[in-house]
Amino acid sequence: MLATKQKVLRRFWYPVMPEAHLAGGKPVPFRLLGRDIVLWRGKDGPAAVTDRCPHRGAKLSLGFIDADVPDGPAIACPYHGWAFGVDGRCRKVPQAHEPLRGMKGGTTGHHATSRYGWIWVALEDPVAPIPDIPEAADPAFRQIDEFHEEWAVAGLRLMENSFDMAHLSYVHANTFGILEEPRPAPVSIEHTPWGFVMKGEAPVTNKGISKELIRSDSERTVRVIEGRWFLPFLRASRIDYPTGLTHVLVTAATPINDQRSMICQWVYRNDTEADSPAEKVIAFDRAVTTEDRLILESSTWDVPLGMSEELHMPSDKPGIEMRRRLAALLAEHGETEARLPPED
Ligand code: FES
Ligand SMILES: [Fe+2]
Repeated sequence: MLATKQKVLRRFWYPVMPEAHLAGGKPVPFRLLGRDIVLWRGKDGPAAVTDRCPHRGAKLSLGFIDADVPDGPAIACPYHGWAFGVDGRCRKVPQAHEPLRGMKGGTTGHHATSRYGWIWVALEDPVAPIPDIPEAADPAFRQIDEFHEEWAVAGLRLMENSFDMAHLSYVHANTFGILEEPRPAPVSIEHTPWGFVMKGEAPVTNKGISKELIRSDSERTVRVIEGRWFLPFLRASRIDYPTGLTHVLVTAATPINDQRSMICQWVYRNDTEADSPAEKVIAFDRAVTTEDRLILESSTWDVPLGMSEELHMPSDKPGIEMRRRLAALLAEHGETEARLPPED
């Protein structure tokens, strides 16, 4: 599937950057599903429009924020200073005798908002809400922002990896996987309106920094996992340990284009900074994530939604369900799966 070619994927919310990135009062560019956009902080919150001036095609992200425009700060073009509002409409032409009189045209406006300390964008009218993460509203949990970085991986590859219980023994043998026990325990999957919830248990090793983070001295422990997948490329995986510690990993593979994703990851934990300094939490998740990254960036990115092109085993069920749900979503919106042309 080529995400940039599937129009319905423009109708989902994606986290694009931490809120703090817009705090400097400067426009910030981002590429989402192959579309160059520019973000800034408008009067009522974040704003996003297509990063192209309709006058002579300059990049608006090289411009500046013009506060002297009706309805609040607008994005102004670096070339001749035309300014555009949060809906993309031209609100100011400084060369005109009535510079504040809006013109009819403009660039394209997109949906933008803030949630969980991140900026979210939907290129077109969203068909699904921003994923609900109950731990975010639970005072027993704190949030730690972990990663915001570009990977050469397709969103679906990262999503299926996040629910793949069979890779733990191999890819994570140095951090928590048990190489000698490659057979994963079965999982259950319950479909939800915008994804599914997978439940299962994974015995894991407990060594090094993990002992401190889980607060257990035993050499092994068990992860009770509730993995929530949200169409198309976001997961919130809750891990409960026998010690009472809960670690919820939220990971989005926001599609930059068909081959690259912006990995946005933050976690919720029901402990305190004194129990486990954020720096150590991030260091452990960094080690784990680096293990996945090496493999995922080596994998193919035009992931087929059909079953015939790749081989499968029973523990691949979550990834297979993702393919089914994506195929059903495309069909529901009258689309067919876009693929690379076959090689000669
Ligand atoms: S190119 Fe943007 S104002 Fe002229
Ligand atoms: Fe992994």
